[in-house]
Amino acid sequence: MCGIVGYTGPREAYPIVIKGLKRLEYRGYDSTGVALHNGKLNVYKKKGKVAELEDSIVGTNLHSHIGIGHTRWATHGEPSDRNAHPHQSASGQLAMIHNGIIENYNQLKQELINKGYSFRSDTDTEVLLNFIEEIKKNNECSLEEAVRVALKRVTGAYVILLMDESDPETIIAARKGSPLVIGVGKGEHFLGSDASPMLEYTKEVVYVNDYELAIVRPDELILKNLGNEKITPYVQKLDIELAAIEKGGYEHFMLKEIYEQPQTVYDCLRGRLDAAAGTITMSGIQQYAEQIINANRIVMVACGTSWHAGLVAEYIFEELCRINVEVEYASEFRYRNPVINKGDVIIAISQSGETADTLVAIENAKNNGAIILGVVNVVGSSIARMSHAGAYTHAGPEIGVASTKAFTAQLAVLTMIALKIGYIKGTIPQDRYLRLLKELEEVPEKVAWTLKHADNIKALAEKYKEARDFLYLGRGYNFPVALEGALKLKEISYIHAEGYPAAEMKHGPIALVDENLPVVFVATRDSYHEKVVSNMQEIKARKGKVISVISEGDETSAALSEDVMVVPEADEILAPMLSVIPLQLLAYYIGLARGCDVDKPRNLAKSVTVE
Ligand code: F6R
Repeated sequence: MCGIVGYTGPREAYPIVIKGLKRLEYRGYDSTGVALHNGKLNVYKKKGKVAELEDSIVGTNLHSHIGIGHTRWATHGEPSDRNAHPHQSASGQLAMIHNGIIENYNQLKQELINKGYSFRSDTDTEVLLNFIEEIKKNNECSLEEAVRVALKRVTGAYVILLMDESDPETIIAARKGSPLVIGVGKGEHFLGSDASPMLEYTKEVVYVNDYELAIVRPDELILKNLGNEKITPYVQKLDIELAAIEKGGYEHFMLKEIYEQPQTVYDCLRGRLDAAAGTITMSGIQQYAEQIINANRIVMVACGTSWHAGLVAEYIFEELCRINVEVEYASEFRYRNPVINKGDVIIAISQSGETADTLVAIENAKNNGAIILGVVNVVGSSIARMSHAGAYTHAGPEIGVASTKAFTAQLAVLTMIALKIGYIKGTIPQDRYLRLLKELEEVPEKVAWTLKHADNIKALAEKYKEARDFLYLGRGYNFPVALEGALKLKEISYIHAEGYPAAEMKHGPIALVDENLPVVFVATRDSYHEKVVSNMQEIKARKGKVISVISEGDETSAALSEDVMVVPEADEILAPMLSVIPLQLLAYYIGLARGCDVDKPRNLAKSVTVE
C-alpha cells in the first residue's frame, strides 16, 4: 500500500507531487511527506492526510524542479510525524520513500547498529536507506550502484524512490512486488504508484517490472536490471481520461462509482457479448478453452470483495460448466502448501491487480504448472501480467476504498467465462444459454432501474444508523452477496456486521437475534426463495427487524419485512449483480449518516500490496 509520486523536469515539482498524492490517497492516508531540492534537500512530512501537510507548510518556499512524495499506510511503526516518509539518511544527503515491506530489516538494522548507526524512526525504510548510504560510503560508488548492491541483500517487497542532495536532477527508482509507473513527457518524467498523478501531463507510460532499477532525469530514462544490464523501456499509451479519476459532481467517489454501474457493466459486456448472434468473444479465454474444459478443477483465488465475486462464480461455474470449483483466500492458499496439479486452472480475481497475497499465490501456482487466468480491472497491473491469459473487467479507475463497481464487473466477466465454457463443453442446454445471454445483455438496464428505485435507502440509513450489529443472510447465489453487504457496512460505517448462509443462522447466530438486531435478507425470487421466506419467519418470530432485498412485486417477503429494497426480476445466476446494489447504497448512506469518511475509511487502503 502507500502511494508514491515523483517528478523531475522544468515545472515546479511541489504542485505536481501534492496533486498526485491526493489522487493516490486511496492507497493509504495516515501520514504524508515530500522531499524537494532548492540548493539543498528539504523534507516536509506530517501525520495525517495530504491536505494537513499542505496546510502546515503554507508560506514556505517550496520552489524545486524535482520532488518525491509519499502517502502512507503504516506497516512498521505507528502513524506519526517521525515515521512519515520521506526518510533522510544519517548524513542527510539522501531522501527516500518506500512502498512495501523489507522483511529482513531487523537483520540489516542490527548490522548498522553494530557500525554505530542510530535511527530516528521505527520504519524498515530508514534501515534500507542507511544500508544504501553505508554501501555508497564503503564502496565509494554511485548511488545507483549502491542501490543495486543493497537490493541484492533485501527480501520483501518494495518500490523505492531516492533523491540525492548532490544531484538535483536525478531520481533513482526500483521495484519488486509493488507497482511503479513512469510517465514520459517532453524533457520531463513523472513517477507514480499508478498513472493517475501524470494523466494531465502525458499518456506515454512505462510499467517498471520487478528487479528493475530506473535512473530518471528530465530528458533521460535509463532502465536496468539488478545485474546492471540496460533494458529498453517499453512505452505504452494510456487510454484513461482525466474525468475518470475525478468526482464528476458526486459528493464521494464511492457514490459516483455505485451510480456508474449501469455503464461499467455495459462496458464490460460491450464487444464481447452478442445475444442475437449467440456468441461471447473473449480471445484470452478462447485460447485456453480446451484446458479449462478439461481442468481437474478451477481454483478462484482472491481477497475481500473479489473473493466474494469468486464465491458467486463458484456456483455459476459448477452449474453451467459442471467443473469442480474451489474458492480460496489468497493469503491462505499461498502459505498452506496446496496440492496443485498440472491440469489445474487458477482464476485470480483482483480489482487493483496488485494485491500482494493474490500475486504471490498465482506465482506459486504458476511455478507448479497451473494455468493462470486473470480477471483484473487495472490494465497492465502485476496480476494481469503474471497471468497466462484473462479478461479485463473494464470498470475504469475505482478510487473509493470500498469496492463497488469492480464487483459487478467481476461478476459480469466471470458469468461470461462460465457461459462460454459451458456452451463449448455442452453442459448448458441451448435454450438456457440463449436466454441467459439475452438476460445478461439486459443487466445494465436493470442496474439502472435498481438505482432509480433506491430513494428509500437514505431514510433506511437514518432509521438504522445507531444499530450496534447487523446480520446479513442469503442462500445460494445470494449468500456471497450477504457477505459482501456485511463487508461494505463494516468498512464504511464501522458497525459490526456478519454475513451468513440463511440456513446456517440456526446453528449459532440466531442467539443474537432480538428486537435490536437488524437482519438484512438478500431474498430475490430464486430456487431458494421459499426456504429464505421460512428463515425470515424464524427471525420475525424472535422479534428481529427484517430488512429485505426483494424482487419487484414479491408481496410475501414484503409482508414479513419491516423495510424492503427492491430489484427487478432476473435469472438467479445474474441476480447478485442487482441485489448487491441496494446493499452498497445502504452501507454508503449509513456511513454518511454516522459522519464517517466513506471514501477513506480508517485503517484501510485500496490496494493491499503488503501481505
Ligand atoms: C472491500 C475491498 C477489499 C478488496 C481486497 C482485494 O471493499 O475493496 O476487500 O476487495 O482488498 O483487492 P483487489 O480486488 O484489488 O485484489
